[in-house]
Amino acid sequence: PQYRDLTRARSLIAPVPDFPEEGVVFQDVMPLLTDPVALRSCVKEMLAPFMGRFDVVAGLEARGFLLAGAAAMVADVGMVPIRKAGKLPRPAAEASYDLEYGQATVEVQADVAPGSRVLVLDDVLATGGTLSAAHEVLRSIGCEVAGSAVLLEIPSLGGRTRVPDVHAVFAG
Ligand code: PRP
Repeated sequence: PQYRDLTRARSLIAPVPDFPEEGVVFQDVMPLLTDPVALRSCVKEMLAPFMGRFDVVAGLEARGFLLAGAAAMVADVGMVPIRKAGKLPRPAAEASYDLEYGQATVEVQADVAPGSRVLVLDDVLATGGTLSAAHEVLRSIGCEVAGSAVLLEIPSLGGRTRVPDVHAVFAG
């Protein structure tokens, strides 16, 4: 049943040509999130290799929040939001990474105990910039990165070279 549920879940990720700009095919996981069986089976699959090896999950803004919230309930742990710059109300640690044009920054508040083992979750792995910056910012507040999991890896964008051990439920 898990294989069948995942096969159906994969079919619910909608490729959107030319979004947010021409030539980019955006992979929209929103239809998958609306389906209870697909959502649960994907979240379980994201967590499976790491069960018992993390204390908290982190989610990356914005779609990673949705998966991390669901994963926290399944795994009975708490959730740390990693935000884009300028959104957090209290002092935050930050890490920047290069985009094709310019830079982006992620931030996290140091609310989780130092030494916590954090599993980092996001919807899509593209170039890996976001995920590797998430690792960096978590380490800067004293956390240990227990691993990373994404719903969908886009192998042609090479994110695995930046985050070699990421667990991807789907690739391609
Ligand atoms: C997307 C996706 C990942 C990131 C992956 O987020 O949800 O977080 O890009 O790209 P990378 O591997 O090249 O870093 P997006 O920038 O669309 O943010 P949003 O979820 O807030 O819309």
